[in-house]
Amino acid sequence: MGDGIVVFGGGGRAGRAVTAEARRRGYEVTAVVREPARYPELGAEGVTVVRGDVTDPGSVRAVAGGHVAAVHAVSPFSGPEQGFDSLDPDFFVTAADALLGGLAATGVRRLVAVGLFANLLGADGRPVMDDPAVFPPEIRPFARAHTAGLDRLRAHAAGEDAVDWVMLTPGGGLEQGAPRTGRYAIGGERVPEGAGPALSYADLAVAVVDEIERPTRHRTRVSVTGTGPGAE
Ligand SMILES: NC(=O)c1ccc[n+]([C@@H]2O[C@H](COP(=O)([O-])OP(=O)(O)OC[C@H]3O[C@@H](n4cnc5c(N)ncnc54)[C@H](OP(=O)(O)O)[C@@H]3O)[C@@H](O)[C@H]2O)c1
Repeated sequence: MGDGIVVFGGGGRAGRAVTAEARRRGYEVTAVVREPARYPELGAEGVTVVRGDVTDPGSVRAVAGGHVAAVHAVSPFSGPEQGFDSLDPDFFVTAADALLGGLAATGVRRLVAVGLFANLLGADGRPVMDDPAVFPPEIRPFARAHTAGLDRLRAHAAGEDAVDWVMLTPGGGLEQGAPRTGRYAIGGERVPEGAGPALSYADLAVAVVDEIERPTRHRTRVSVTGTGPGAE
């Protein structure tokens, strides 16, 4: 576990892709899920499945120690069919606090979080989620909750012992099952102009593990987009 990566949301779409990419590069992975019995297929060589809750600082401390980096790929909302009755608007704020506190306490210095397209800025400078022509208004409660989590990460004080976080936000859609090309483009706060094809989860995972191995962005949020077919 000493040079491994702990993946919160390890049973989800992004979490599985990150786990696969990390294993491909030889990292040990601790996949954190709330109920390990629901994921009998997740454990594999180099992958340890543990119970944990990203909103609980004690739980974060219990699972994070000894890893070189953590990945936040947790979502309380997996699709419109789920509805919002159970959505806690403070979910991502609570998770940000638990992660930054728990990781700092256990000496894990790098956190890569997956963001949401909805709070990138459009051409008019407004967040995408404020434009009903681009973003479905019915999903705004989730987008607002996600954005509050980003704001919370930004509000955490910098300092010698602070966690060096970065949030990688898909610049458009995320495609499950699309191939890994090994390529992606990092942008800024805006929806990238003339963005390439939707990013595959596999290439998002390449970007996530790259930002662990060779960090290029610090305490900020950036867009990540696909670049089309690559060498693989
Ligand atoms: N275009 C875009 O911008 C875009 C598209 C898709 C996703 N995303 C973002 O990418 C991230 C990952 O999304 P995804 O598609 O991988 O979601 P997903 O497949 O729904 O997976 C999310 C995982 O979060 C876990 N989870 C929920 N509550 C938890 C808690 N309290 N503690 C620990 N784990 C918890 C769930 O696992 P358990 O139920 O087992 O705990 C679930 O497997 C999210 O931030 C999402 O908003 C962005």
